[in-house]
Amino acid sequence: MQRFLVGLHRASAHSNRIGKLSTAIGGCIQELFPCPDKVITALDVGCGDMTVAETISSDNPTIQWACTDIHELPPHLHGTEKWKKYRKFDGSKLPFDNASFDVVLFSDVLHHCLPASSDLLREAGRVARFVVVKDHFEKGLFSRATLRLLDFIGNYGYGVSVPECYFDELSFQASADAAGLRIMKMIDHLPIYPFPLSMVLPQTLQFLAVLERAAHENV
Ligand SMILES: C[S@@+](CC[C@H](N)C(=O)[O-])C[C@H]1O[C@@H](n2cnc3c(N)ncnc32)[C@H](O)[C@@H]1O
Repeated sequence: MQRFLVGLHRASAHSNRIGKLSTAIGGCIQELFPCPDKVITALDVGCGDMTVAETISSDNPTIQWACTDIHELPPHLHGTEKWKKYRKFDGSKLPFDNASFDVVLFSDVLHHCLPASSDLLREAGRVARFVVVKDHFEKGLFSRATLRLLDFIGNYGYGVSVPECYFDELSFQASADAAGLRIMKMIDHLPIYPFPLSMVLPQTLQFLAVLERAAHENV
């Protein structure tokens, strides 16, 4: 069953999703640092196989990634060039000093961490001034069920749990407030679903937000 779901996910949506997400996220990060030569240090939290981070870097070579997730690295990957930038963490406390990075990314991660998402956001704001979040907005019970089905296809095969519910605009704002972060930019219509899914799934189920540590927050 798990192998079937991984195959279905890869064949249907995976590469389309990675390409569109990487372009949108890379663009948001570059906008934060208009000087074209600046090296931007970025941390991808919940990086999965790191494809999003690596695709962003291949289009934006000045963005340099460290990556972290909750999984132990399999022994055969230890010491390989690709996985040198990966570090496991416990899912709550990021193992990095204050202000170690320019930006932290959560790409389709925070809904797996509800209701503790504001704690992770606060951690992100501790290690970087800017936080980029790609996630989903549910718009009612039907969209919640749809998102859960898509999460099942996209994640269950990789051993990632399917959440009970998702953010809506109010709960995301509340999480950001509780984390001491200000939402600077919100793109609440992200055209990611490929045809024919795009005919039935509203692109408003996806959002991309840029947050900044609030001025009064000290790290
Ligand atoms: C849908 S995958 C996203 C992977 C990758 N970011 C991407 O966009 O392709 C969700 C990821 O969140 C990670 N995750 C789950 N709980 C987490 C937590 N508490 N902290 C960080 N990552 C977590 C999972 O291990 C998984 O890699």
